[in-house]
Amino acid sequence: MSDNPLRLGVNIDHVATVRNARGGAYPDPLRAAKLAEEAGADGITAHLREDRRHISDADIDGLMEVLSVPLNFEMAATPEMQQIALRHKPHAVCIVPEKREERTTEGGLEVAREENKLAHFIAPLRDVGCRVSIFIAADQRQIEAAHRIGAEVIELHTGAYCDAVSEGHTDVANRELDSLREMSAFAHSLGLEVHAGHGLTYDTVQPVAAFPEVRELNIGHFLIGEAIFRGLTPAIAEMRRLMDEARAVV
Ligand code: PXP
Repeated sequence: MSDNPLRLGVNIDHVATVRNARGGAYPDPLRAAKLAEEAGADGITAHLREDRRHISDADIDGLMEVLSVPLNFEMAATPEMQQIALRHKPHAVCIVPEKREERTTEGGLEVAREENKLAHFIAPLRDVGCRVSIFIAADQRQIEAAHRIGAEVIELHTGAYCDAVSEGHTDVANRELDSLREMSAFAHSLGLEVHAGHGLTYDTVQPVAAFPEVRELNIGHFLIGEAIFRGLTPAIAEMRRLMDEARAVV
């Protein structure tokens, strides 16, 4: 076991997306979460969106009851979500930007411009013992602001890097990767714990997993998609293997 382990957080939102396509109870995100746990996930991530398009309030209630690994509760910085988080006191809260018209979380949070508001927003969450993470772009200004407001963790948005890889834009992908590498080291130097995620796949995970400062990757859509073809347990096992392989050379 490496003395610099890399955790895998499995995001189960899209199990709920499939369930909600039919409006019933199947497939159950809680069952997927327990299976992910058994398959080696170090944590489960779920995003309770304001419009409840996938994960529901009842899913969060259930996850808090059944999980043996930590829940990373993703949410927008709204009073309603703050109340829900304060009621459940999950291990971690990840603050993400949210727009109703977006299909997924498209960019990082604008922390620098909202510093005061966010500082007040996260203080009660920290007071009840939640580790507060801020989902941001690999941008020094945003990292410095996240540090100033008292976040313990930042999660770097890997979406632009992953999109560039899938579109075959190697130069852009390399540039994005350079920023992610540089900003991981910068955030770590400030004492922040560094996580990363969004859009990661078997093709894109290894360069990010190799950054020694990154302690956790949160991966959802690809794993749930891949589960259709090879099953959830093998899909997670292969991601874990690739992460460990990349980490072994660090
Ligand atoms: N991290 C954060 C903060 C996210 O908002 C998401 C998407 O919900 C993910 C990680 C996982 O992204 P993906 O589903 O593309 O793997």
